Amino acid sequence: MCGIVGFVGEDENALPFLLEGLQRLEYRGYDSAGVAVVQENHLTVEKRQGKLQRLVEALTTTSVRGSCGIGHTRWATHGRPTDQNAHPQLDCHGQIAVVHNGIIENYQTLKAELMARGHHFRSETDTEVIPHLLEEYGGLDDLKTAVERAEARLTGAYAFLAISATHPDQIVAVRRSSPLVVGLGERTNYLASDFTAFLRHTRRAVVLDNGDLAVIRPWSVEIHDANGVAVERPVLHIDWTLDQAERGGYPHFMLKEIMEQPEAWADCLLGRIERGRVVEEALGLTAEELKAIRRVVMVAAGTAYHAGLVGRVLVESLAGIPVEVDVASEFRYRRPLLEPGTLVVAISQSGETADTLASVSLAKEMGLKVWAVTNTVGSTLAREADTVGYTYAGPEIAVASTKAYTTQILLLTLFAIALAQAQGRAYPELAEQVLSLPEAGKSVLSAMQGLHGLGQELAQHRDVFFIGRGLDWALAQEGQLKLKEISYLHAEAYAAGELKHGTLALIEEGVPVIAILTQPELADKAISNVLEVKARGARVWAVVSANLSGVPADRLIPIPATAPLLAPVLAAIPLQLLAYWTAVSRGEDVDQPRNLAKSVTVE
Ligand code: AGP
Repeated sequence: MCGIVGFVGEDENALPFLLEGLQRLEYRGYDSAGVAVVQENHLTVEKRQGKLQRLVEALTTTSVRGSCGIGHTRWATHGRPTDQNAHPQLDCHGQIAVVHNGIIENYQTLKAELMARGHHFRSETDTEVIPHLLEEYGGLDDLKTAVERAEARLTGAYAFLAISATHPDQIVAVRRSSPLVVGLGERTNYLASDFTAFLRHTRRAVVLDNGDLAVIRPWSVEIHDANGVAVERPVLHIDWTLDQAERGGYPHFMLKEIMEQPEAWADCLLGRIERGRVVEEALGLTAEELKAIRRVVMVAAGTAYHAGLVGRVLVESLAGIPVEVDVASEFRYRRPLLEPGTLVVAISQSGETADTLASVSLAKEMGLKVWAVTNTVGSTLAREADTVGYTYAGPEIAVASTKAYTTQILLLTLFAIALAQAQGRAYPELAEQVLSLPEAGKSVLSAMQGLHGLGQELAQHRDVFFIGRGLDWALAQEGQLKLKEISYLHAEAYAAGELKHGTLALIEEGVPVIAILTQPELADKAISNVLEVKARGARVWAVVSANLSGVPADRLIPIPATAPLLAPVLAAIPLQLLAYWTAVSRGEDVDQPRNLAKSVTVE
């Protein structure tokens, strides 16, 4: 997820607007930033690795004036955060500039083709193929036609803006899946990834549809749909405050990030499954490397550790390869016995967790190969590991991890299928079902309105228990952590069959128990455990797959039926929302809970 902005007007205020807009979009990415402004028939381009402030400082001594420009704040996906990889990206002669959000899936093929035709590439990004394609298709003469022709060559989910030195009064914009909105001003128009960027200047906006191509001039906005037909899109009046707009209109980043999950899952899956097979290279691994793996050890902390617990079940079930999962702070000190043929999988949203990094160093000292599962390109983990699979969830701002967790599980699901493929066992049906998860996620989110009331109820209690078996137990552990960390209620997760070995003594009249039942094979046993706690007076709320019946809970929270191994990502959503609404009911600081930091870079 990156932030893009554009300005085209009759006065020369492009640069101040671009910097202001980027500052408002910095929450979408902050590892590098850049701008390009058309000035006297040439492009002035400035970009800097690091926070936006570095770019602002670099521009204070220049006198860039222009009435048309584009800007970008980056959350790296392809290529490390460096000055060269920052956007805008340019054609060979620096006369066409492009800023882009999303992923161009087929960039390697296009890059090879363009290089063979003599184009000179300067970055490691997927984006750079766009300005070179525009150059190839005569963008300096007719930018719109060149964009149409280039767009027909691209696959992926993205939005981009293009300008050229020869078109000082227009921006050509394309939206395919990634968000893009137009702000309508007085003889000035704006473009941005979301309304926040231009709300201070105008509240009149048009949301581009998927497949739209728009030509924006100071006095006009011309939109063509995916079939090239000229269309009018409704003009909206945005009455959010600036603060609300930054959070997409949601009261907290956590809720925004929960709601973003279907989009994050689609980004994470993009280009990774083809014709019922996982594309190994798209995970950062080769089929040969996967074939050589005899054992897997996963190390991580907190929520990422819980993703590893899910990953263990997936890998063992699908690939039949033994997996251990360890909390990084324990692994690094327990002198683990690791033999050759072991792949160490280090899972971390930030890629900066000190204990996880120390575990990676230890594994490397022992001569083992490390595969990182991380959300952060350019992080220490991404640099230290031998190879990396990115989760592509976009920046996660709330301390409580939500979309990073479910994308970690998705990537581990693909890893498990890829490992099975290497053993000669393909799972084409399962792989296809994985692709339907973003749609299923949307229906879970739209069915969860009632959880608000359950959160209010839960907020009245002191202790909450989460129970489940198999994958549901792994998920229960994440459910209790979410609730604890933002609502400050005491919560514990138990393997449902373990209750009778001690914890059952704590169950008394009215104690809330959240039961998770998504695994048909274990359903009868799990139902017995629900009956056990109910017999002691517990009030049971059950997250249940729609294909399971007869669960004797006080309140059912159904999720759509899917392959049992894929249920955790869907079932995670009600647990996240339950924690969220409980914390809101208690009036806690949801996004920044007490005593916690987003990234724990100390021991
Ligand atoms: C979970 O909501 C927490 N933010 C925390 O447990 C987190 O998952 C843990 O600190 C690990 O962080 P990482 O994924 O960035 O390594």
